Amino acid sequence: MEASATSPSKGIFDSANLEARERVVELLRKAYWMEIETVMSYIAASVNLDGVRAQEIKESLAEDVEEELGHAKQFADRIKELYGIVPGSEDFAAEQSFLQPPEHQTDIVHVIRGVIKAETGAIEHYTRLVEETEGVDPVTQDMVIEILRDEQGHRRLFEGFLREYEFEGIA
Ligand SMILES: [Fe+2]
Ligand SMILES: [Fe+2]
Repeated sequence: MEASATSPSKGIFDSANLEARERVVELLRKAYWMEIETVMSYIAASVNLDGVRAQEIKESLAEDVEEELGHAKQFADRIKELYGIVPGSEDFAAEQSFLQPPEHQTDIVHVIRGVIKAETGAIEHYTRLVEETEGVDPVTQDMVIEILRDEQGHRRLFEGFLREYEFEGIA
């Protein structure tokens, strides 16, 4: 009896899938940086904002910092599992121009809009990751779907905050 010429598939770890694996790692590195930048922006906003009305937003952002940091760690772990290297700080390039501290620290609407934009960016990138891993890397896809759900929740929450300000004619 002749041995079968093909060995069982190892999926994303197959040498035939090297290119796909490298593409996924690249997308994961971008996701990792997005989370790290979000952590920086949310820490600053959760501390900087002033005023009675800011309290709720500050607390919500402080909670999100922990969640986004958790996401960053998950992305880092997955990069390693896929034989990639978690990038060093010198590779970091800031992109959240819209989440810089406002001129006035009572400008809550500026922060709410910035958060919605950051979450939207994450949702777009993670949706792409889900698409690119379809049929190629179900483990990464599963992980990203869970994180994507968190970001959808964050976005929804801050949309609600914005509605309130719009309703009151402040935004
Ligand atoms: Fe996140
Ligand atoms: Fe988020």
